[in-house]
Amino acid sequence: SDVIAIVPAAGIGARMGATIPKQYLALGEQSILAHTLDSLIAHADISEVIVALHPDDRFFETLSQAEHPKITTVIGGDERADSVLAALSAICKNDHSTQPKWALVHDAARPCLTQTDIDKLLSSREQFPQGAILAMPVRDTMKRCELSSLSIAETVCRDNLWHALTPQLFPAGQLQQHLSSALEQNITITDEASAMEWAGVKPGLVNGRADNIKVTHPDDLQLAKLFLAHINSK
Ligand code: CTP
Ligand code: MG
Repeated sequence: SDVIAIVPAAGIGARMGATIPKQYLALGEQSILAHTLDSLIAHADISEVIVALHPDDRFFETLSQAEHPKITTVIGGDERADSVLAALSAICKNDHSTQPKWALVHDAARPCLTQTDIDKLLSSREQFPQGAILAMPVRDTMKRCELSSLSIAETVCRDNLWHALTPQLFPAGQLQQHLSSALEQNITITDEASAMEWAGVKPGLVNGRADNIKVTHPDDLQLAKLFLAHINSK
């Protein structure tokens, strides 16, 4: 079946606080987004990569990947979920095939994506026909904060707690349906899985890698650079 990657890249990177959106900051030789796209383009099972861009984006066309035959763009929306939905609409609108399409959604801001991680998630479709996400068990002891005093209200049992990462992989039609109804009902949706969960689906958890970080704060740039160098040296 056909796998189409969706890359939400329409954010402004407020927490990074740079003068340009964080996905266009350099990480060694090329930008964060360029690294992300290279990893997706390189995978033989991914036939197309749809990038959701900010309406005022001035940087995307300067990337060498912009001309790649696998890559197309759409205009993103106010929230990450709106950006993903814009890309899903493009997929489902043009879908006259009988083969079901899978949407593999991956944050532009996660440049350290390995081919083995993509392989693992794609292979999980047999075990999880309704979709799955890359995730990592929580390592630290978790505390619930009492907001009024910034003190500890309680320790949360971490045995069943996982960090949700991307990519997240779902049948494209189902994801579009559940994401759009969740948004219509003003449900807060921070990842694809949460839209599916809201609709009663139980997405699978596939063990990801600790170095698949989302570049969020300035400190993360140095970390991502180190991780990338390590991944590329293998
Ligand atoms: N994103 C998007 N459309 C939005 C908001 C975010 O496509 N309206 C994308 C970002 O470009 C990023 C991914 O979703 O690749 C994850 O979001 P996040 O890390 O929060 O990025 P930003 O929203 O850009 O950063 P911040 O929240 O600090 O402003
Ligand atoms: Mg954000």
